[in-house]
Amino acid sequence: MRAIVSFVFVFVLGWSPTSADDFSVASPDGLLRAEVNVSSSGLSYRVFRDETLIIRSSELGFTFLDGTNFEADTNRISSSRRAVDETWEQPWGEARFIHDIHNELAVSIPRNGVADETMTVRFRVFDDGLGFRYEYQAPAGRSLVIADELTEFNFAEDADTWWIPAGEWNRYEYLYEKTPLSKVKLAHTPITMRRSDGIHISVHEAALVDYAGMWFKQTAGTNFTAELAPNPLGGKVHTTGGFKTPWRTLQVTEAATGLLNSHLILNLNEPSRLGDVSWIKPGKYVGIWWGMHLNINTWGSGERHGATTANTKHHIDFAAKHGFDGVLVEGWNVGWDGNWFDNGDVFSFTKPYPDFDIKALSDYALEKGVRLIGHHETSGGVTNYENQMAEAYKLYEDLGVRQIKTGYVANGGNIVRKKPDGTVVNEWHDGQWMSNHNIRLLELAAKHKLSINSHEPIKDTGLRRTYPNWISREGARGQEYNAWGSPGNPPSHTAILPFTRMLSGPLDFTPGIFDLLFEEEKPDNRVETTLAKQLALYVVLFSPIQMAADLPANYEARPDALQFIKDVVTDFEQSIALAGEIGEYAIYARKDRNSDDWFMGGLTGDNEQSKELKLDFLDPDKRYLLQLYRDSDDAHWRSNPYGFVVEEKQVNATETISVRMAPGGGFAARLVPVSD
Ligand code: NOJ
Ligand code: CA
Repeated sequence: MRAIVSFVFVFVLGWSPTSADDFSVASPDGLLRAEVNVSSSGLSYRVFRDETLIIRSSELGFTFLDGTNFEADTNRISSSRRAVDETWEQPWGEARFIHDIHNELAVSIPRNGVADETMTVRFRVFDDGLGFRYEYQAPAGRSLVIADELTEFNFAEDADTWWIPAGEWNRYEYLYEKTPLSKVKLAHTPITMRRSDGIHISVHEAALVDYAGMWFKQTAGTNFTAELAPNPLGGKVHTTGGFKTPWRTLQVTEAATGLLNSHLILNLNEPSRLGDVSWIKPGKYVGIWWGMHLNINTWGSGERHGATTANTKHHIDFAAKHGFDGVLVEGWNVGWDGNWFDNGDVFSFTKPYPDFDIKALSDYALEKGVRLIGHHETSGGVTNYENQMAEAYKLYEDLGVRQIKTGYVANGGNIVRKKPDGTVVNEWHDGQWMSNHNIRLLELAAKHKLSINSHEPIKDTGLRRTYPNWISREGARGQEYNAWGSPGNPPSHTAILPFTRMLSGPLDFTPGIFDLLFEEEKPDNRVETTLAKQLALYVVLFSPIQMAADLPANYEARPDALQFIKDVVTDFEQSIALAGEIGEYAIYARKDRNSDDWFMGGLTGDNEQSKELKLDFLDPDKRYLLQLYRDSDDAHWRSNPYGFVVEEKQVNATETISVRMAPGGGFAARLVPVSD
């Protein structure tokens, strides 16, 4: 019972128009083109870049749980077009101004035999990619349950593909596979590919609201379909009075760096709903955190309890001394004792352990110009959390807390939702109910001037534009895996992330581990990077809040490297991906939003890389002091991870700098204008 709706996209630049040429739309530069075909047998689309076929004829549409199909009334199809060229401003981000220039085509198709339902398929085509979504108009109160979305992505040819599996227990926390596209069975998005002709493509979605997350599922060869995350109530998505799907996105660029410099996902989200957001503060933080992952401390109470008043004061003092804005404290609240992975229904989000004086500590922090950062681990007990959210957010607001790190440690498909009648159902982190949980939470948090940094989150789809208090998130295999081992993150992991996970938005990776070997605590595990690469992560893996994740003592032992973490900023006027290849290296320059300083960072995967980098992004009328933190010439993540050099010299915009990055290495730099 497939919906009888499919679209065909036909590209027109240099291509002879077909009978469906009314339904063709090209990017502003004319290179990327989509063509839509509507006929009584269905809807489909195709995508071309220049004269190259990217997506072969691919179906569009839905099946509904009531067994009915959407049949197009082809006699009443209408279409409209719009060209948009505007620039909007982010309250914080990798860039202050975002240019949105695209051409839009909307095709509206009345449902055959059902007078009051219409499906509009809206396409927006940008120079660096496109998005399309379904907008389904139905009378208020009419329920429709989507059984399946039929959207296909039939790729014209095979391609090298970097991906993580979907529908598995560990959510998004997997190492990336690199295989031919034709070997991918079921993957999360963003999923990124490079064709043999060098064209890079990334598939994702934008503005996932009141809908199920899209998994990328093979149907045959290089043909894929949008598989929606399951819903325990049956079907995939429950709708009333019509619905809008997220945008299905294809970023299509020549160079790998084209993906990094694309703002397509943000541009396809709605403007902010939060009004004045001056209370949202980017910044840097330390925390009572790494000690737990190294087994020095525990989250639960007892002798090794990390979240004690004394230990928190020590961290506040360290933060104040070195200019950090926040101190994250995990394990402060009752509920961690026993196996906390299973404590989802017993966590209190308002009751501190007796050895944690939350009021005295928040006052102490505020006196020193620092704020506590809140922590809410739900262990997947989301109804338990929802029942306490209002009180918990009020408590934090009263204490002067501005940010909360949340956690959803539960296996995929094991979120616990209690329905009003007391029955329990298990949800996926990216199912429709969790997508709505996040919106409920963000709206409530905003009322208390709180920003949210979600761990074990739903994937990012650019909603930070609409809810700028969604300040960061995990949703990747972060630094913590290096403490846990079996295995840690190999060098290539962070050289793949920029081209995959980072295309969705900020990542709270928690960089800055200086004791790379932790021989005392976990001698069998280690961090597989050089010291310089830990600094590079601050620039390459964007997040408006960045943690300095190591123990204070390890920072005190390396004031030379710590200086970069103290200087680097997290909120940028402009960002430029200068160079990169997936899994091999990524190099960025970013300009501070609040000064004339620039920062640079580059990192490698398994192999050494030497690059000549033009500084032509600098202001041509200024000279700069370059403070360079780099791998020594004999550094190597395995054999010489601490081979590290700090050097300074004056440069200007006409010059280039040479950097050699070790295997698993990198560099970081600050460029400060100097007066003559
Ligand atoms: C997993 C998170 O990624 C980690 O940062 C946190 O410490 C634990 N959950 C406990 O909440
Ligand atoms: Ca995690």
